[in-house]
Amino acid sequence: MKKISAGIIGFGIGQKHFEAIQNYKKAKVKTICEKNIKKLKYLKKKFPKIKITNRENDIFFDKDINLVSIASYDNYHYSQILKSIKSKKNIIIEKPMCLNLKQLKNIKKLISNSNLKIMSNMVLRVNDLFSNIKKKISKDDIFYIEADYIWGRIKKLFGWRSNINDYSIILGAGIHVIDLVMWMLNKRPHSVLALANNIVTSKTIFKKNSMALIILEFPGNIIAKITANSVAVHEHFHEIKVFTNKKTINNTLKGSFTYTKNNITKNKFSYPDRTNRKKLIHNFIDHIISNKKKLVMSKKEQFDLMSVCLAAEESIKKNKKIKIKYI
Ligand SMILES: NC(=O)c1ccc[n+]([C@@H]2O[C@H](COP(=O)([O-])OP(=O)(O)OC[C@H]3O[C@@H](n4cnc5c(N)ncnc54)[C@H](O)[C@@H]3O)[C@@H](O)[C@H]2O)c1
Repeated sequence: MKKISAGIIGFGIGQKHFEAIQNYKKAKVKTICEKNIKKLKYLKKKFPKIKITNRENDIFFDKDINLVSIASYDNYHYSQILKSIKSKKNIIIEKPMCLNLKQLKNIKKLISNSNLKIMSNMVLRVNDLFSNIKKKISKDDIFYIEADYIWGRIKKLFGWRSNINDYSIILGAGIHVIDLVMWMLNKRPHSVLALANNIVTSKTIFKKNSMALIILEFPGNIIAKITANSVAVHEHFHEIKVFTNKKTINNTLKGSFTYTKNNITKNKFSYPDRTNRKKLIHNFIDHIISNKKKLVMSKKEQFDLMSVCLAAEESIKKNKKIKIKYI
């Protein structure tokens, strides 16, 4: 069996990566890179057997490491992916993979010329509720989906997200529900119209849009309306409504329900279901160990998703509907 030796960069959400990787099928985290001094000290005490460093090259120059988990701020993702490819390491990348089209094209070119594997942490795909909704509608004709990513964590905007140049609420938050919609439909949209505002944040240090509305048009005239809403006074929530010819399924604060012609039933699936999140990383490790294990999210789906999000940003900038070019 191939031995997995991992390096993790960034120990915010990176802690969840650590918990998923460490000791899964003999996988080990060899090195953690963290640039916050307080965290460095804490990590050294907590994990005396793991190399704790603030130099990312300690991971990239280590020939023993064959998996890099990138959970740094969004603006570091691109260069760290490039370094991972150069040093022949498989990649777990936090969303978003990168911040613009030029970067995306270059990553695709470089990774396609290698035999390395890449995984984006689209955790909603392994969520109990959403994977069961997908099953329930698989034979229906879907005509419309609504998906609201209600972040409910406005404070987070005022840390590193305020400081980096190209931070995008679509790439940084809405991406999760855009993926959910594409995955449920098993289709790629052909065009996107998006609008955004910064009403709630305009007088703060966060100078980008903090709320976006995204309309996707799919083959067969299917329409999706999505919001990336980082400023709502609300708890963190994914409000989803799927309308098919046979039923309507939703996830609301009152619970998740299935409506058919004669019935309303409460869905018993688990949400927010944090316990299943590790499954995505476990699936990726299984896939590295044996190619036969199918990935929850293919490489192509990851690049398609990024193409859609970047086209949505373009639509906001140009104030018009955009035909999506898949790279
Ligand atoms: N998939 C998800 O559900 C999900 C959830 C939260 C965050 N994220 C993504 O994870 C990334 C990190 O976000 P977060 O919420 O964990 O932020 P955070 O501020 O909570 O933690 C990030 C940590 O990474 C460290 N760090 C950042 N850049 C680094 C670098 N270049 N080298 C070493 N250490 C570095 C910081 O010091 C910090 O300790 C972002 O890209 C974010 O979009 C994804």
